[in-house]
Amino acid sequence: MERVCLTLLIHQPFNNSGRNALFFSQLLETFSWGILFSHPRDFTPVCTTELGRAAKLAPEFAKKNVKMIALSVDSVEDHLAWSKDINAYNGQEPTEKLPFPIIDDKNRDLAILLGMLDPAEKDEKGMPVTARVVFIFGPDKKLKLSILYPATTGRNFDEILRVITSLQLTAEKRVATPVDWKVKMLKGQIPSSPSRPKGPVSKWLSSGSFLLGALF
Ligand code: BEZ
Repeated sequence: MERVCLTLLIHQPFNNSGRNALFFSQLLETFSWGILFSHPRDFTPVCTTELGRAAKLAPEFAKKNVKMIALSVDSVEDHLAWSKDINAYNGQEPTEKLPFPIIDDKNRDLAILLGMLDPAEKDEKGMPVTARVVFIFGPDKKLKLSILYPATTGRNFDEILRVITSLQLTAEKRVATPVDWKVKMLKGQIPSSPSRPKGPVSKWLSSGSFLLGALF
């Protein structure tokens, strides 16, 4: 059976062997929270919709103090040319400028190191391309969350923003967020740890933390 090995584990720091890996770890040092999101190939339809959406949501990521970094196995020249398509898709001037960098990982330094390759999707040379991976790093430069989508399934960037809100909240307070949780459920009512929330759907967990419910 074929196995994919994800070498970066949750709550683990980033391992910086390799040229791009070193570049990425240096980049990580320059910001607080960070998201690394890979896509299979430049100039493909689903990837264009995803990076267009990511570009539109860049102000929301900035508000959360999250540095955005994209990556694929294409060259810088391709990234720049494709950025024009992405901006045009968003109804904007077709310039080469996007609100985030796209790493040129054509040597697959980072893709191999971080288990980002999709063995089912190959380039014209028969080499696997990157899957749609999401890695979110915290201020301590450790991985806080990873989501892995195949090339054939586009991501939901609202969900990515939602999990970042939860990650940042749960990093600050001793709480856990329940199924389908959204921040508007508890706007202005985030209890300060360790006091217990008063709402009927709050629940202490055996770990000592509590769930935040919709009715606080
Ligand atoms: C796309 O972005 O459209 C795509 C890329 C790789 C495989 C399938 C779809």
